[in-house]
Amino acid sequence: MKKPVIAIDGYSSTGKSSISKVIAAKLGLIHLDTGALYRGVTWFALQNCLNDSGTIDLEKLFSSMDQVELEFKNIDGELVLFLNHIDISKAIRTTEVSDNVSFVAKQKEVRDFLLQSQRNLAEKGGIIMDGRDIGTVVLPNADYKFFLTASIDERTRRRYLELLSLGIEANEQQVKENLIERDRIDSEREIAPLKQAEDAIIIDNTTISKKETIDEILSHIRKI
Ligand code: C5P
Repeated sequence: MKKPVIAIDGYSSTGKSSISKVIAAKLGLIHLDTGALYRGVTWFALQNCLNDSGTIDLEKLFSSMDQVELEFKNIDGELVLFLNHIDISKAIRTTEVSDNVSFVAKQKEVRDFLLQSQRNLAEKGGIIMDGRDIGTVVLPNADYKFFLTASIDERTRRRYLELLSLGIEANEQQVKENLIERDRIDSEREIAPLKQAEDAIIIDNTTISKKETIDEILSHIRKI
């Protein structure tokens, strides 16, 4: 039997990736955190494509995109993101990347560059992919679609604690502003905006735990 294709979209810091990771392990699926890919391209741009004023030069980025080779490697059961053979899994979580990623992710050239590889990975089934446009654009025919949401204060708290646990310095107010700004840019962009697919199941996990969110998703998967 073909294993399912599951799309998990939603607002920033609703736990999409960590929840998808657990579900993937439980159901024997591959997990792809698509946000990490956009963060990877952003990290590349910050390293290689700045103009004199220190901001990202999009023309430079578009013309050097053929030098971007992103690859997930399984290291001790963890998927670690490499860019041109450098482990960037921690570097992509920095504030600098978070502050620039939505600007990079709204560019058509960047989305086109990442779209086909995401679809190729899902061809054989057996995958759970999380992001912003998975159920609407990347995998509109996914077997199951979920859309996660939570209050801004709860999401801020979670992201702030996550950064601290990664040893990344953070300021709670700045984390909150970044989440609000990213959600705004992601929702308002022309191409593949952040929005709930019409056939997605919405889960607001403001007051429920990660485990309860996972159980709810699994119960829907068993029911459908
Ligand atoms: O999931 P994460 O918060 O790491 O995503 C970082 C950013 O990548 C998002 O704010 C959004 O700008 C972009 N993104 C996207 N489409 C996806 C996944 C992420 O535009 N499918």
